[in-house]
Amino acid sequence: MPAESVVTVRERGPGAWPWIALAFLAIGAVHLLVGRATHGQHLLHLVFGAAYLLPIVAAAAWLGVRQAVLLAAASGAVYLLHTGTAWVDQPMENANRVVLVAIYLFVGVVAGVLVEAAERERRARREAERSAQRDAMVQAIASLSGALRERDDGTASHCERVARVAVSLGEALSIPPERLHVLRLAAVVHDVGKIGVRDDVLFKPGDLTSEERGRVERHAVIAAQLLRPVRGAEEIAEIVLCHHECPDGSGYPRGLGGDRIPPLARVLRVADVFAALLEARPYKGRMSVAEVLDRMRALSGKLDAPSLAALERLAASEALPDLG
Ligand SMILES: [Fe+2]
Repeated sequence: MPAESVVTVRERGPGAWPWIALAFLAIGAVHLLVGRATHGQHLLHLVFGAAYLLPIVAAAAWLGVRQAVLLAAASGAVYLLHTGTAWVDQPMENANRVVLVAIYLFVGVVAGVLVEAAERERRARREAERSAQRDAMVQAIASLSGALRERDDGTASHCERVARVAVSLGEALSIPPERLHVLRLAAVVHDVGKIGVRDDVLFKPGDLTSEERGRVERHAVIAAQLLRPVRGAEEIAEIVLCHHECPDGSGYPRGLGGDRIPPLARVLRVADVFAALLEARPYKGRMSVAEVLDRMRALSGKLDAPSLAALERLAASEALPDLG
């Protein structure tokens, strides 16, 4: 899946808190320094009383309800301390000012709760969109797989066997479940590009000419072209494009080597070669697992070593999936 591109309010929080703290300290400091001699200065004190609300609302928006309430309490404490010490001769008026402290707390709680509710709703909406996109992508993969089965049942069955082996290999390599899902989907459609290979080439029983081999090898590119327009399947398209690339750079279509081959494509290739060697083909009979592993060991440099080692471990512990 593509990386999350929308930065949520709470994810901005760590960068915002020093500025909010600075704003609170600046308002508090200037408030305490303003004189009290004139009517104009008294008005400024009223303005500063309201100004404490700015960092409280900012804390609600960027840090969360708990931090907003804490800042409201701190603002209230500063404000009460100030009125209690600076306006000692106005006990009645100071009692009224307690209302402002209650307003700080009220604004902190309400703003924090509203922001968190809006954020929860935004997250739920994004998750629903992602889920719908995932479902549409899986549906598109299933449709392509169905189209391949209509065209070439043998290749579609091969893809399903490869998917089972690839998932087992992925589990043995401790690939996380969400990546295993991507690997399985890529395996299910890895040969879908054969839809675009002419019948006389695709079903030719004998050896292929180099021109015919070139046409067959185009299946990786054709598959990627079919998959790329599917929203959410861009990575699967790239894996499928690379499923015939070899670690030593001798593969196709781009001759990528080593780390330039996507990790899931390396696993997929080992699963693909294993299933292909095991299966009966017009040009060869079915092979045993031991024979297949012998052949694969001889392909050193053309197969991902960790994936091959995982395959060997699965075979040794008889944990390979039943490929029928
Ligand atoms: Fe292939």
